Amino acid sequence: MTPPLAQPDAGTALSPALLARDSRFVDFVTACSAAAGAPDAQSRVADLTCDLVQHWRMPDPRYLRCQPDAAYGSYLLYLSPSANLCIVLDVFMDQQAAIAHNHLCWCVFACLEGLERETLFDAPDDLSAPPAAALSRLRHPGEVTIAEAAPGALHQVECASGDRAVSLHIYGADIGTLERRMWSAADAAYVPFRSGYSNGPAGLPVYLSPADAGTV
Ligand SMILES: [Fe+2]
Repeated sequence: MTPPLAQPDAGTALSPALLARDSRFVDFVTACSAAAGAPDAQSRVADLTCDLVQHWRMPDPRYLRCQPDAAYGSYLLYLSPSANLCIVLDVFMDQQAAIAHNHLCWCVFACLEGLERETLFDAPDDLSAPPAAALSRLRHPGEVTIAEAAPGALHQVECASGDRAVSLHIYGADIGTLERRMWSAADAAYVPFRSGYSNGPAGLPVYLSPADAGTV
């Protein structure tokens, strides 16, 4: 079971984003919140993400650590009250990788640091056949890519450089609690999973709360 997210002190603690005076991220959340419910939310958020990642990097080093005993670190930075906008920072150390998985919601990704390799897979949406690798590409800092919500749209991500790879992920749902599917090569089967977040094990709150973002 995923440990609960740490909460700021009752009623008094500011979100880490405000303590870091991270106005670029706050403004990004405001703009993405305005776009999140629109039919073209994914493309609008992708455009906003392209602008953000030209300058923004995570200023709080606590959200850049690997998570012990996990395949990689995945920190929840923001979750809207209606869960239609979810922003996550993933940290892949050397040799770390995510198993091929689907998302079941729209996604926008941006590499912030290091180098990531993403492999895209095709599978039937009823998952009646194994995933077939369709494309492998490197993601450099500043590059933005997207993924679709279809059950058969899978990808696998790994650190492709010798050091750390950091990327920003924006989703149209609370990705940490969605029951999704990943491909287990050992079982030759799709298996259900919920990814959770690293905030609980790391004792960190959500980086920016809706109250501090002004999006309540
Ligand atoms: Fe993913």
